[in-house]
Amino acid sequence: MPCPALPDGFDFTDPDVLHHRVPLPEFAELRRAEPVRWIPQSGNVAGFQDEGYWAVTRHADVKYVSTHPELFSSSLNTAIIRFNEHIERDAIDAQRLILLNMDPPEHTRVRQIVQRVFTPRAIRALEERLRTRARAIAAHARDRSGPFDFVTEVACELPLQAIAELIGIPQDDRAKIFDWSNKMIAYDDPEYAITEEVGKESATELIAYAMNMAADRKECPAKDIVTTLVAAEGEGSLRSDEFGFFVLMLAVAGNETTRNAITHGMHAFLTHPEQWELYKRERPATAAEEIVRWATPVVSFQRTATQDTELGGKQIRKGDRVGIFYASANHDPEVFGNPDVFDITRDPNPHLGFGGGGPHYCLGKSLAVLEIDLIFNAVADAMPDLRLVGDPRRLRSAWINGVKELQVGTG
Ligand code: HEM
Repeated sequence: MPCPALPDGFDFTDPDVLHHRVPLPEFAELRRAEPVRWIPQSGNVAGFQDEGYWAVTRHADVKYVSTHPELFSSSLNTAIIRFNEHIERDAIDAQRLILLNMDPPEHTRVRQIVQRVFTPRAIRALEERLRTRARAIAAHARDRSGPFDFVTEVACELPLQAIAELIGIPQDDRAKIFDWSNKMIAYDDPEYAITEEVGKESATELIAYAMNMAADRKECPAKDIVTTLVAAEGEGSLRSDEFGFFVLMLAVAGNETTRNAITHGMHAFLTHPEQWELYKRERPATAAEEIVRWATPVVSFQRTATQDTELGGKQIRKGDRVGIFYASANHDPEVFGNPDVFDITRDPNPHLGFGGGGPHYCLGKSLAVLEIDLIFNAVADAMPDLRLVGDPRRLRSAWINGVKELQVGTG
């Protein structure tokens, strides 16, 4: 098959490429004709000096890379382009403390500890409190007199509250935690006017706060989740700095992702009114997964080849960077019937929005699905007549499929 021609200098990691169009037509082209494609880069792109990366666009290949950490490492090079560039540029060693950037066996050890936070029982225990929050958020938005921004009024709050509930952040501290978290994720979109310095300071303050929490519990164990994570002896326990970075990762991994899933979901409902009607009538349990497939808030992650290997008929060299594009895999016609149709009854729905099923598969998936369910149930009850007032304003980012503002109104 002929190689698709991409425009000169085309690069998926360029924020302006993704800015206005997801899914990208280039993904469909590559999936069809060259599913593993070398994308050359020149100069210092996104903070790296490498000469390029492999773009992996088919569902099967994204899964393969994700499930073979021995071939495709998360720690040899960064997994998170923008996060790395903007927050941890001076602290390459520190990023190794983030679960996403670890390889087995270190990853296995830390993941076994932190997954205690996400047991089905722990998530069920949060459900009622989060339901109450979701209803309050929707009721508050409904009582606004005119059009409002769905992102700030509805989508932002629940993901932050969920993380705070999960690790037991006291009510009085939540405002500052939310402020740090939001500053950290508001990286380089010029409109946010948050400098790199401020983002970095916020990350440092959040880590220090969490490390203090850990130190407290080590000294005075309590009956709470922080104690469970940090107070056991030896191998079964996190060090205080590991706990600090775990909380930092939750604030990034669990915050913006869910916020964007909720916002994209609302936009999809309001631009597919028959799906919104169906949702209000039947509340299908399959809706949240389709929202995540449709939104694919995390466009891609990266791995680095640990040895020479082959993928999709291409020779990958040891040290090559490999970009796995969930946003492409989630529209792969070999896996999804009518992949470009938003269908909240889609079942099965083996999307890769939460990752490709390997050791790094999203730890917060059940919590995210719960949050999405709760918020849409609350919005459908409180504002069944919600309508779009303007077009979404997109986040300038190559890594996050984000929406900054979505004006909606009732009546
Ligand atoms: C990892 C997506 C919500 C915590 C990941 C990965 C993706 C992802 C793509 C990487 C998977 C891989 O490399 O194979 C999402 C999406 C979400 C969401 C789309 C919302 C719709 C959450 C929430 C939390 C969370 C709510 C926690 C509060 C994590 C953690 C990891 C992770 C801790 C790292 C796991 C590891 O490295 O072992 N997520 N996520 N995520 N996510 Fe999520």
